[in-house]
Amino acid sequence: MDRVVSASDLRARVSAWRRDGLRVGFVPTMGNLHAGHYSLLARAREHADRVVASIFVNPTQFGPNEDFNRYPRTPDADREGLVAHRCDLLFEPAVEEIYPSGVASTRVEVPEVSEPLEGAMRPGHFAGVATVVTKLFNLVQPDVAVFGRKDYQQLLVIRRLVTDLRLPIDIRAAPIVREANGLAMSSRNQYLSADERARAGVIHATLETMCAAVRSGQAVRSIEESAHAALTAAGLVPDYASLRRAEDLSEPGDACCGPLVALIAARLGKTRLIDNLACDAAAGSEM
Ligand code: PAJ
Repeated sequence: MDRVVSASDLRARVSAWRRDGLRVGFVPTMGNLHAGHYSLLARAREHADRVVASIFVNPTQFGPNEDFNRYPRTPDADREGLVAHRCDLLFEPAVEEIYPSGVASTRVEVPEVSEPLEGAMRPGHFAGVATVVTKLFNLVQPDVAVFGRKDYQQLLVIRRLVTDLRLPIDIRAAPIVREANGLAMSSRNQYLSADERARAGVIHATLETMCAAVRSGQAVRSIEESAHAALTAAGLVPDYASLRRAEDLSEPGDACCGPLVALIAARLGKTRLIDNLACDAAAGSEM
């Protein structure tokens, strides 16, 4: 695996591949890599001849009171893991390489799909994500890029920006990789104590219950209320436990329509966890 830190070195490597007619896959990450991230590399490899990964803890997607400074950074272990998972090129830029005019300059905003749920809880978060991903796409110029369903709203934001900016990139979604107790793998899981980690399994269990209730025809509002109660009873503080239309995260009407997704964000001690589950079996497959 090669490692580059500058935009010019990155461009030189990728253009050489393109001249040889090779298809380029891309997996953007913030590092502290785990099996969830590595599954995206495997998915990229299925659709590309060469796979580029980026590690960049993006300051603009963290709120002022969030964990940017203490976000886990494990560059040596990440590099070893990427080699073991057959990454061809690692792009590991400094902040100035991505934000040459400073972090308060040009931005990309994706309205509507950015607004509910995570967007409401974390103002500016998706503008930060959309901005950095647009920059990374422009630098790497991949044919295909892979994102995890773990961050379901992020996936929809990326799809919308690719459509709206007419970017010629095939966006692929990869399934959520979970621990044995159902907890979705996340870099933030390491903030959890052993006891919290065990209790966090209630999030996935609650998502399963929500989807089962949808299938048995229960009303959306009462399903959401029961989910809130289940999370609270397990000692979590939910930000939301919602059923939304999988297509665009709008609220399902009474006479609804199309597949739903159950989404939860909840705090456990000092750690904020998010997870989701497609309630329709077909929606769980790759879009
Ligand atoms: P990060 O949290 O590092 O996640 C990078 C990618 O890995 C995302 O597409 C995310 O959905 C996926 N991922 C994380 N945990 C996963 C799991 N348990 N199963 C499957 N996929 C998983 O998401 C970001 O970074 C950033 O917002 C980024 C897109 C890199 C922009 O800064």
